Amino acid sequence: MVKAVYPGSFDPVTFGHLDIIRRSCAFADEVIVGVLNNKAKSPLFSVEERVKMLREVTKELTKVKVIPFEGLLVEFAKQNQANIVVRGLRAITDFEYELQMAQTNHKLEPQIETMFLTTRLEYSYLSSTIVKEVAAFGGDISQFVPEAVIEMMKEKMPQ
Ligand code: PNS
Repeated sequence: MVKAVYPGSFDPVTFGHLDIIRRSCAFADEVIVGVLNNKAKSPLFSVEERVKMLREVTKELTKVKVIPFEGLLVEFAKQNQANIVVRGLRAITDFEYELQMAQTNHKLEPQIETMFLTTRLEYSYLSSTIVKEVAAFGGDISQFVPEAVIEMMKEKMPQ
């Protein structure tokens, strides 16, 4: 049984994240989307809101479970009996940070492997930060995020 954890902040979830979740379902029996509750950061959406939006946009994907987590990723993976961590790689700029995280996680828990999926070309520019920036200035974010997220963004950032 292959159980994968796909961790992130998802503030908000984008089509790029969704693509990685869908593609993870092709090789994993279960995909746990781990939503980081980082008390040191002040995200636009609370962890409850991010969990809610992820559950909504993945509701058709039967292998996916959305679970919030705090603390170390490897501990969360172990608690959920997951042996694979999935991360998307967009560009060379992601690489250094992702390599550092993967290697740290491997030092902490050698039996947990990190797998990188290269982001599809059409989403390679996309990030949650860019989506918030466009939305903050009243731009159209429909190419970047699912409909349910657009609605939640409107509530957060009324124009
Ligand atoms: O979507 P993000 O913000 O790039 O995701 C980053 C995330 C959640 C994968 C990373 O911050 C994380 O794993 N945080 C948990 C704390 C941890 O385990 N740190 C040690 C690994 S360097």
